[in-house]
Amino acid sequence: MTTLITGGAGYIGSHTVHALLDRGDAVVVLDNLSTGVRAQVGEKAAFVQGDVADTALVRETIAGHGVASVIHFAGSIVVPESVADPLSYYENNVVKSRALIQACVAAGIRNFIFSSTATVYAEDAPQPLAEGAPKAPISPYARSKLMTEWMLEDVSRAHDFRHTVLRYFNVAGADPQGRTGQSTPKATHLIKRAAMVALGRVPHLDIFGTDYPTPDGTGVRDYIHVSDLAAAHLLALDALRGGAGTTSYNCGYGRGLSVREVVAGVERVTGRPLPVREGPRRPGDPPTLVADPRRIKSELGWVPRHDGLDGIIRSAIAWERRFNT
Ligand code: UD1
Repeated sequence: MTTLITGGAGYIGSHTVHALLDRGDAVVVLDNLSTGVRAQVGEKAAFVQGDVADTALVRETIAGHGVASVIHFAGSIVVPESVADPLSYYENNVVKSRALIQACVAAGIRNFIFSSTATVYAEDAPQPLAEGAPKAPISPYARSKLMTEWMLEDVSRAHDFRHTVLRYFNVAGADPQGRTGQSTPKATHLIKRAAMVALGRVPHLDIFGTDYPTPDGTGVRDYIHVSDLAAAHLLALDALRGGAGTTSYNCGYGRGLSVREVVAGVERVTGRPLPVREGPRRPGDPPTLVADPRRIKSELGWVPRHDGLDGIIRSAIAWERRFNT
C-alpha cells in the first residue's frame, strides 16, 4: 500500500512525507528537484528523481513500488511568475498533471489527492469561503489549478478513479522537529519574510497596502500551519482508502489575521520591534481570504493542533535560523 508523492521534496510535500513515514506508511517520492531539496525528504522514503510527465518512469515507479495511491504536489506556485510566463504554468501544472493522471488511470490507481488553492474562488465570493463558493480564478497559476480540478472531475466520472481536492489557504510554519521547512530562497510569503526580517537577514518588512476594506486596512489571510495541512492529507488518504467518494476540502482555520496582526505576533515572539515599511498594495492581492473549514472537520475529523499564531511564527523563525546556517 505504498503512496506515491509527487513534489515530495518541496515545502508541503516534504512535511506530508514525514507525517506518513512517522505513522509507518510506505512512501515513494517523485521529484525533479527543480525547487525541492533532496535532504528534506525523510530517509525512509524511496526517492525517484524525475518528472511527473515522464509516463514510462511513472508507470515503472507505480509497478516497482506497489503504489496504490497518489498525492500530487508537484507544480509551480508563484503567482506573479505565472502572470509573466503563463504558458510555462499551463505546461507544468496542467499538461504535466494530465500526463500523470493518464499514467495513473492506465496503471489502475484509484485514489488521488490534488493540491489546489484558495485563489480558485471568486474575489467577491462571500467570506468565509465554503467549497461551493463561486470559482473565478484570476492568475494563470490559479486557473491552472482549477483546470486540473476539472480534469480530475471528468476522469473520476469516466473511470474507476476517485480523488480529493485540497484547497490550501496561506500555509506557514515548519516541522516542529526541524526536519523540513520553507526553503525557497526568494520566497515572498509574509511569515517567511517576517522571519527573515526578525533574524536581521532583510532590513525591513514591506506592508503591501494599508487601505484595504479590512479592520486595520491591511490584507487578511487564513494562515495554516504546514503540519496541520500535512495531517489533512493523511486523513484524506485514509478516507479514499476506506472508499470515500470524490470531493474537495478547504484547508484553513477559519480565522483571518491581518498583516499588522502577524507583525504584532512576530514582535511578541521575539520581544523586539519588527522594522516595517508601509507601501502600496501589491498587484493582484485580494483584501481577504478566509476558509470555512466545516466540511473537512465534520467529514474527515480534522482537528488543528498547531493553530496558535505565535507557535507558527516560532517554528518559521526556528527553521529560518537552521536553514540558513
Ligand atoms: C498565498 C500563496 C498562494 C495561495 C494563497 C492562498 C504563495 C507564493 N502564495 O498567496 O499560492 O494560493 O496564499 O491564500 O505561495 N504581504 C505583505 N508583505 C510581504 C508579503 C506579503 O504585506 O512582504 C501581505 C500580502 O499583501 C497579503 C498577505 O501579506 O495580504 C499574505 O501574502 P503572501 O504570504 O504573499 O500570500 P498570498 O499572496 O495570500
